[in-house]
Amino acid sequence: MNTLDAIASRRSIRKFLDTPLPEEIIRRILHAAILAPSGKNRQPWRFIVIKEDKRAQMVKVMRAGIERHKARGERTGSSENSARIMEQAPVTIFVFNPYEHKKHKRSTSGLMNVVDVQSVGAAIQNMHLAAQDLGIGALWICDIFYAYDELCDWLGQKRQMIAAVSLGNPDEQPDARPRKTLDEVTVWL
Ligand SMILES: Cc1cc2nc3c(=O)[nH]c(=O)nc-3n(C[C@H](O)[C@H](O)[C@H](O)COP(=O)(O)O)c2cc1C
Repeated sequence: MNTLDAIASRRSIRKFLDTPLPEEIIRRILHAAILAPSGKNRQPWRFIVIKEDKRAQMVKVMRAGIERHKARGERTGSSENSARIMEQAPVTIFVFNPYEHKKHKRSTSGLMNVVDVQSVGAAIQNMHLAAQDLGIGALWICDIFYAYDELCDWLGQKRQMIAAVSLGNPDEQPDARPRKTLDEVTVWL
């Protein structure tokens, strides 16, 4: 698939068929991730792949975090929907930044962290474009932050959790979501 076609046709997929993804496909998507550019070529990404056998446990941990917020009377946004999607997708890949502690506070490493997070974003976008090329549905998920501590503990991670990506065979073909026009977001000097 042409790169611009992949960019234009990609959609966030929130309904997946109940069919497993071959490991070869997961590896191809991860391989696209590690080809992303990164500041100082630091490659600040580490991936944890959760497949069907650990999926129920993952969702239980995610829901525990959501419940923690609810118990405090806090809003939980779209997190319950995201948990339902993670429950359906055959694969969810967590992405961590190995260079930053999970309790990141403003520090001298702050600017480097901004660079690293951009690099991880490029890797995650590559995953989405590779998935699109392979006919696989993908959803970028930051609602995992509602269960930040719970998921980090469960995954045994002390590093900065950036996002998760759920993958599977798509069971929907959503229309394109609206975008601001180029003129709204661009200034030509
Ligand atoms: C950083 C980031 C975090 C996101 N987190 C979530 C999420 O937690 N749950 C969800 O359903 N979608 C999530 N999305 C998907 C966005 O809602 C989606 O990209 C946006 O609405 C545009 O739709 P499109 O991807 O189909 O073009 C996220 C996307 C990005 C880039």
